[in-house]
Amino acid sequence: MINEISKLKINDLNLKEWKEYQDILTDSLWLIGERDKSGAHNNAYHGNFIPQIPNQMMRRFTKKGDVVLDAFLGNGTTLIESKRLGRHGIGIELIPEVARSAVQNI
Ligand SMILES: C[S@@+](CC[C@H](N)C(=O)[O-])C[C@H]1O[C@@H](n2cnc3c(N)ncnc32)[C@H](O)[C@@H]1O
Repeated sequence: MINEISKLKINDLNLKEWKEYQDILTDSLWLIGERDKSGAHNNAYHGNFIPQIPNQMMRRFTKKGDVVLDAFLGNGTTLIESKRLGRHGIGIELIPEVARSAVQNI
């Protein structure tokens, strides 16, 4: 069973060369530099993610073309990153004005 799981292709990374990826954090402690404020990441919403966190997670656990569901969309950080990475994003947000803001950002 473990061998079967290890053969599943869950991302676009070459796991035989994982140490070569300079921009994939492989330690258990992630040291992330300055918050990514590029593009649509306007950091206008309280409690939003540092974009590098969902970026790392999606690159590890999804492939291009996969669907990413964010059930707590907020300002859309995860779906901005999913779009950048070529994933399809679906977001759910409780507060309509926050959802509209996320749509603008995405
Ligand atoms: C911490 S914020 C998420 C921030 C987001 N990760 C970002 O970077 O912009 C959590 C969001 O979940 C929303 N929320 C809370 N309960 C919810 C629910 N039951 N269904 C959908 N959205 C919900 C809140 O309105 C809030 O905008």
